[in-house]
Amino acid sequence: MKNSFYKRSFLTLKDFSKEEILYLIDLSIRLKKEKIEKIYKYRLKNKNIALLFEKTSTRTRCAASVACFDEGAHAEFLGKSDIQLGKKESVKDTARVLGRMFDAIIFRGFKHDTLLTLSEFSKVPVINGLTDDYHPTQVLADFMTIKERFNRLDNIKIAFLGDGNNNMANSLLAGCAKIGLDISIAAPKTLYPTKDLINYINSIKKDSEICITEDVNEAIINADVVYTDVWLSMGEEKSKFAEKKVQLLKKYRVNSDVMKLTGKSSTIFLHCLPASHESEVHNLEVTDEVFESEQSLVFEQAENRMHTIKAILSAVIGEYK
Ligand code: CP
Ligand code: NVA
Repeated sequence: MKNSFYKRSFLTLKDFSKEEILYLIDLSIRLKKEKIEKIYKYRLKNKNIALLFEKTSTRTRCAASVACFDEGAHAEFLGKSDIQLGKKESVKDTARVLGRMFDAIIFRGFKHDTLLTLSEFSKVPVINGLTDDYHPTQVLADFMTIKERFNRLDNIKIAFLGDGNNNMANSLLAGCAKIGLDISIAAPKTLYPTKDLINYINSIKKDSEICITEDVNEAIINADVVYTDVWLSMGEEKSKFAEKKVQLLKKYRVNSDVMKLTGKSSTIFLHCLPASHESEVHNLEVTDEVFESEQSLVFEQAENRMHTIKAILSAVIGEYK
């Protein structure tokens, strides 16, 4: 299995098989255990990783930096005001320069096409640390968190409430269809996933039940995981449609009554973070009560970003140990 990752980019979960995704989750769980036991294997010794970030980040940046340090690599942070990308230099040229100096690139940015260009021209593995369209490393951490809690990744249903057309909804759909989890998305019709994505999901899903609905009750029944994300993703906050979008999404807010609609006391709450949950925050996709409840595993999920990014880097450019 390890060889199937060798020198591959990690752009979306669409590019990986069920077995490969499950392998990365199990490797992440093993790496977490090693870290707790203070076992250091330096799988990335002497590697250099560029962290090329057009958008801000807490988790992804810190997860990548700590993962690199733990495994013996050097991480170089390149923020949007640090380098020439998109100002004095094309993405294609930047990619060719970085590819001659670094062993891998983790990119966070706006256009998914920028990620694809980096991957094509750098000739080194490029890992998607979030684009407007997909956030696959997050979903790996989400699946790891689910496996840790339920000790399985089958017979699980996720209900995602909110913006059904953003990078998280897209990535959860792709990931669930790949590995056979059930997923229901409750969103306003205007924020449904694209037809292209739904067609793709339907063409690959084998064991997953997929439901896209406007109705929270329909989506949430029997859910083991209730998931939400910000209503305005990075870059949308100042859009002229922002206020309208927030109004549309208000009925998809996760509160304790919504959690009860699953009909299960074992249901967990997940959120990729950052979250608007405090009462003075305007958008409030989840109430403080749910966010701070025992059902909420959002900080386990955040920690798992580090173990999963470490697993991806180790699989694509690391030594097998
Ligand atoms: N979940 C996530 O990607 O968080 P950051 O934006 O802080 O990296
Ligand atoms: N949809 C959110 C995810 C943040 C991790 C955004 O793109 O801002």
